[in-house]
Amino acid sequence: MPGTCVIGLQWGDEAKGKLVDILTEEHEIVVRYAGGANAGHTVVSDGQTWKLSIIPSGILRDGVACVVTGGVVLDPAKVIDEMDGLESRGVRMHGKLQLSDRAHVVFPWHVVEDRLLDGSLSGGGAIGTTGRGIGPCYRDKVGRSLAIRLGDLYRPDFRAKVEHVVDFKNRLFANWPGAAPTPLDAAAIHAQYAAYAKRLEPHIADTTAFLLDAVEAGRRLLFEGAQGALLDIDHGTFPYVTSSNSSGVGVSSGAGVPGRWIDRVIGVVKAYSTRVGGGPLPTEQDNATGMHLRERGREYGTVTKRPRRCGWFDAVATRYTARLSGVDELAVMLLDVLGGFDELKICVAYDIDGRRTTQFPSQIADLEKAVPVYETLPGWREELDGVRAETGLPANARRYVDRIAELLGRPVSIVSVGPDRQQTIIRDRTAAARPWHSSQPANA
Ligand code: GDP
Ligand code: IMO
Ligand code: MG
Repeated sequence: MPGTCVIGLQWGDEAKGKLVDILTEEHEIVVRYAGGANAGHTVVSDGQTWKLSIIPSGILRDGVACVVTGGVVLDPAKVIDEMDGLESRGVRMHGKLQLSDRAHVVFPWHVVEDRLLDGSLSGGGAIGTTGRGIGPCYRDKVGRSLAIRLGDLYRPDFRAKVEHVVDFKNRLFANWPGAAPTPLDAAAIHAQYAAYAKRLEPHIADTTAFLLDAVEAGRRLLFEGAQGALLDIDHGTFPYVTSSNSSGVGVSSGAGVPGRWIDRVIGVVKAYSTRVGGGPLPTEQDNATGMHLRERGREYGTVTKRPRRCGWFDAVATRYTARLSGVDELAVMLLDVLGGFDELKICVAYDIDGRRTTQFPSQIADLEKAVPVYETLPGWREELDGVRAETGLPANARRYVDRIAELLGRPVSIVSVGPDRQQTIIRDRTAAARPWHSSQPANA
């Protein structure tokens, strides 16, 4: 069975990019299947840092096909920028990158709508989107009448489609409360997107057909999740979510590959919690602890540079998303960031209106009231960034990893102790069920 999935179990930025880059070695095809330029995935190797947004993180390795499927909303300007940036640093794109002709295209009107609508949640408040036009593009996809797909850019009626949509959007914007934006110019937008289409043409493909052929031929696929499961449009902390199925349930629909072809789902967690934008973060530490995590973890958004909100690890939320995503095993990332605390806390239950529960609430109003119930574990003083084997981890760090595994009901097979490829401890599958605490330090 050929498929592995990497799914973020929190609110994004769990270091999925780093993990995908490492796992690419064992796979032939890397697939991005949801989201768009709202994602920012970081890979660090040999002292070089790579920031990827739409292009799969597998692109950095030779001999790997990288596929962006129809579940992604694709901003051509952003993809071209990314391609140029990679090519200028010697990464070959030709013959390696495929973009689905089914992918819906992000246009300037989507970015305008994103700006006009964020902050207008019914009942007040803002989602705090990345401003990349993601929600409005998915809205037009579901609405159908105003949608334009990548394949449409190559059809004779493309210009007429742009004129139709621009006419509609200009009338909509003219009646928008407050200042209406400058009217959209259909001819200029058509010309600009026709130029993008020319540049992208060698990469356009029916990726569903390609991937179905690949799985039936037994080729090994790696699905690169974007965002995190708690941002899932259907199962996340609605309305403070993104507009796609970012949990494990979205892989099949986004990629066009039946779930029966996926035999390994890796849930990625940070050793603590972060969130960018609005919405509840029950374990948030808006204090010196949160600041310490932000500075040690360099928690500033890859896409928008916004400071990320930080807090303790939330086992209620991540147990829910691990189950939702069908996770087999866990990767615990950024463990090094927790060094230097005397004590560490893990949220093991919520107190909601005086009632204790380990069930993640379906209603945002309940999550907003949730008071975390913490368990306290001893911390460690050692720096972990030089550790390369599980026996090199301090006993308290291994205890902390084991407690996450126990609370989420899945083994931890990977621990990351720094941004670089090398700063990773990977267990072989036979060791997976054994507690980390049972390994003896080399000098014991
Ligand atoms: P993604 O969106 O899930 O791919 O994650 P991001 O790239 O947005 O954010 C993860 C950040 O943590 C990046 O800056 C990574 O370089 C960095 N990182 C990854 N793994 C580790 C780790 O184990 N320790 C530390 N300190 N940083 C890490
Ligand atoms: P990666 O793949 C963290 C968040 C935004 C906002 C909400 C909706 O790097 O983990 P959107 O622009 O999608 O409509 O914004 O979702 N968000 C992310 N947060 N990492 C991401 O991606 C995110 N993609 C979207 O901050 O709160
Ligand atoms: Mg990110």
